[in-house]
Amino acid sequence: MSVGIDDISFATSSFYLDLQRLADVQGIEADKFYQGIGQEKMGIVAPDEDVVTLAAAAAEPLLQRLDPQTLDTLIFATETGVDQSKAAGIFVHRLLGLSPRCRVVEMKQACYSATAAVQMACALVAREPQRRVLVLASDIARYDLGSSGEATQGCGAAALVISARPRVVEIDPWSGHHTEDVMDFWRPNYRATALVDGKYSTKIYLKALKQAWAHYQEVSGLDFDALDHICYHLPFSRMAEKAQLQLAKFAGTRADTETLLARVEPSVRYNRLIGNSYTASLYVALVSLLDHSDEDLSGTRLGFFSYGSGCVAEFFSGRLVPGYADRLHRERHQSQLVSREALDYEAYLRFYGFEVPTDGGDHSFEEWTRGPFRLAGIQAHKRIYQPRS
Ligand code: HMG
Repeated sequence: MSVGIDDISFATSSFYLDLQRLADVQGIEADKFYQGIGQEKMGIVAPDEDVVTLAAAAAEPLLQRLDPQTLDTLIFATETGVDQSKAAGIFVHRLLGLSPRCRVVEMKQACYSATAAVQMACALVAREPQRRVLVLASDIARYDLGSSGEATQGCGAAALVISARPRVVEIDPWSGHHTEDVMDFWRPNYRATALVDGKYSTKIYLKALKQAWAHYQEVSGLDFDALDHICYHLPFSRMAEKAQLQLAKFAGTRADTETLLARVEPSVRYNRLIGNSYTASLYVALVSLLDHSDEDLSGTRLGFFSYGSGCVAEFFSGRLVPGYADRLHRERHQSQLVSREALDYEAYLRFYGFEVPTDGGDHSFEEWTRGPFRLAGIQAHKRIYQPRS
């Protein structure tokens, strides 16, 4: 029996900063960002947006296509948790009107945890094929102002329905893993921004790719050319180019550089416009590939490389199901991106500097977001989420 992705969508914030603005302030050429790291814009959350509102917005179109009562489990993957105890997914559960019989849990391992969630969801569905699992991956990437990571900030959420006889991607039962205790990127509990050893993190990413690939190849028996496209975790778009060329060399393909890069280009387009969305980024890459491919990719096998600093990596694969194109939410994704509002640098600083008050008092937040849900305020340390009327 096949299991995999039956439906998939993503959402981002209503605001962005064009990296030209950051380049102007830093007195450098914008091409360092546009070409050097392959990023044009970064999604910036408004004070009334967070991982809960983004995840609920990503899931909303999926819920319009299925009976919410049929969802058995919701797994929320994030490294931008809003509470040390309560799963962010429980807020989403209420906003989306899910059944009390749908259990909810939150998972963490940097950008990797959404892939663990997807694999666990596949295992649950394989055990009881009538189950459907909603996987939500939602994150806000934040680095210190003026740091080398600042230009790679971003935000976004992906929502996936995992089911038997999926209509988008049948996920293969084999995958390759790599785990290693390294400090390339981390965020201690007392910090709002991540700490990162930038150059080292890119080296570890590439090392983990080779290790996970070697394991994948051992268990699958497939070689590089069996994969028509590979979607990579995207901390910034040029990372996918570097990864693709390294992997091709390591795996010994004869494909030329132009062909290899053409195979990843459609998967990075959304990321160029929203920035790093941590757990969501690999799945945003998949959506980007599907939304931007001119040809029908039915029946082709895709590779997926998931990387989470710290680090855990996984290489897995799946086949696109004939008819997948009818399941896409392309127009919704694209209209969401074109309707975002550009921030000037001062507004970016104001949004960046916003923090949910911690004084235990009651606070209402101004309405900024154009998304379907908002963080309306905080009362006695409790976050108040509402649909936007
Ligand atoms: P940097 O110091 O800003 O950039 O760091 P650089 O000086 O290395 O330049 C970057 C590229 O731009 C270079 O090209 C330059 O030549 C080029 P490359 O050598 O790479 O081919 N460049 C230009 N190109 C055109 N015109 C110009 C120009 N100037 C320079 N005028 C770095 C870059 C990625 C380290 C930094 O942005 C950073 O620290 N980012 C955050 C960490 C990160 O994204 N790491 C990625 C791997 S770890 C990961 O993926 C996990 C993560 O998602 C977190 C998680 O798991 O939760 C981060």
